[in-house]
Amino acid sequence: MPQITVVDQSGETSSVEAPVGRTLMEVIRDNGFDELLALCGGCCSCATCHVFIDESHFASLPKMTEDENDLLDSSSYRNEFSRLSCQVPITDALEGLKVTIAPED
Ligand code: FES
Repeated sequence: MPQITVVDQSGETSSVEAPVGRTLMEVIRDNGFDELLALCGGCCSCATCHVFIDESHFASLPKMTEDENDLLDSSSYRNEFSRLSCQVPITDALEGLKVTIAPED
């Protein structure tokens, strides 16, 4: 099972296990990071699961859909490593991933 590092909004890092087949949003939420609101429950309509992916893993993620891209545009904190974590499936390729929870808009 991939081990990933989550950086919360205060900059604190935690190492968590990420079961293959879950989404990154579910893993972060289920590990008690309440600041990741994920209000729509993962159906790509709220953008409150915004995260920044470390550069070394970013390219290995599935391509962003138009919906995800449009939603991310609504965040003033969007950067080149932004993703909606509910759209990122956990795979073995994410071993060692470092993900940072974006500030709340
Ligand atoms: S949880 Fe709403 S867009 Fe990801």
